[in-house]
Amino acid sequence: MISAQRSVKITGTGSYAPRKSLSNDDLAKFVDTSDEWIFARTGIKERRIADEEETASAMGTSAARVALAEADLAPESVDVIVVATMTPDMLFPSTACLIQNDLGIAGAVCLDVEAACSGFLYAMEVATGLLQTGRYRNALVVGTEKLSSILDWEDRSTCVLFGDGAGAAVLSSDSSDGATVIDFKLGADGSKSDVLSMPGGGSSIPATQDSLAARQHFLKMRGREVFKLAVKVMGQVALDILEQNDIRPDQLSCVVPHQANMRIIDSISSRLGIPIERFFLNLDKYGNTSAASIPIALDEAARSGRLKSGDTVLLVAFGAGLTWGASLVKW
Ligand code: ACO
Repeated sequence: MISAQRSVKITGTGSYAPRKSLSNDDLAKFVDTSDEWIFARTGIKERRIADEEETASAMGTSAARVALAEADLAPESVDVIVVATMTPDMLFPSTACLIQNDLGIAGAVCLDVEAACSGFLYAMEVATGLLQTGRYRNALVVGTEKLSSILDWEDRSTCVLFGDGAGAAVLSSDSSDGATVIDFKLGADGSKSDVLSMPGGGSSIPATQDSLAARQHFLKMRGREVFKLAVKVMGQVALDILEQNDIRPDQLSCVVPHQANMRIIDSISSRLGIPIERFFLNLDKYGNTSAASIPIALDEAARSGRLKSGDTVLLVAFGAGLTWGASLVKW
């Protein structure tokens, strides 16, 4: 039986970044680019690159352990694991199942959510909905990406933008402590699926010698189109969720945006009329880590003391699909 709606709290956050850093200058040694070009167009200075053992599941597990410790929750008390990733260890089984096994959690419900860079917010809403049924009490939500594994290192228009990492949050309907999840607003426009995709490796273009030769197993992006769409949809979904909750932009203490490009974030700041100082930014260090971007930033914002009790925080993202999403959290 589905019980009445109940309050869902974020009781812990965690993140993991591979040790190996690749600066713009390092990249310029093997790609025709420069620190000046990358920094001016994106705001990125460096990104982390996972080694062979640092799979999406391994990084997700590390971030999850930190979040569980912060929440003071034993792994066996986790009922649901939702993982957002577009770079799963493999097409199946789900990365959530692999993380479940790594953490030694028997029996928890496991599923992956694929909404590219909006994935963490999609995963949070799925987990929140499951908790609100009353059938589950604690959920682990993980965003983890090994984007270096799908980048075409000969395509300077994409390989300079992305990095690897993982972030996690524990959500609970069983706790009076923690940050309250207020609302979500998600959306998608599948007619724009071709602006950002990885064509190969699925059932429409399985791996063959031809698909490999045609470089179909790498991320492809029409950057300018993505840029314009991102500015439009991220600004709109942010305004929509504020309006739907009767909150003015100036009442937000902090905005944690998807860390794709500083120019996109600047334009959201202008559209909302919120000074850029109120945005939490770490894309200079990590680049775009897709579904891991928001949970890494949220964890760093929380740990740095940037989020204070009572703060109203806006999370906002866009990604391939196109997908977009926003969430409001009362810290
Ligand atoms: N270094 C040097 N020059 C470069 C590089 C590079 N790394 N990449 C492209 N250029 C060149 C191009 O070849 C082009 O040269 P030309 O004028 O001689 O033809 C010139 O720079 C301008 O290229 P544009 O693509 O027009 O550059 P733009 O100003 O649009 O910036 C960028 C490109 C940074 C990719 C921008 O379009 C962007 O940020 N788009 C959004 C990308 C994004 O956020 N993607 C994440 C999506 S989220 C997800 O789901 C994964």
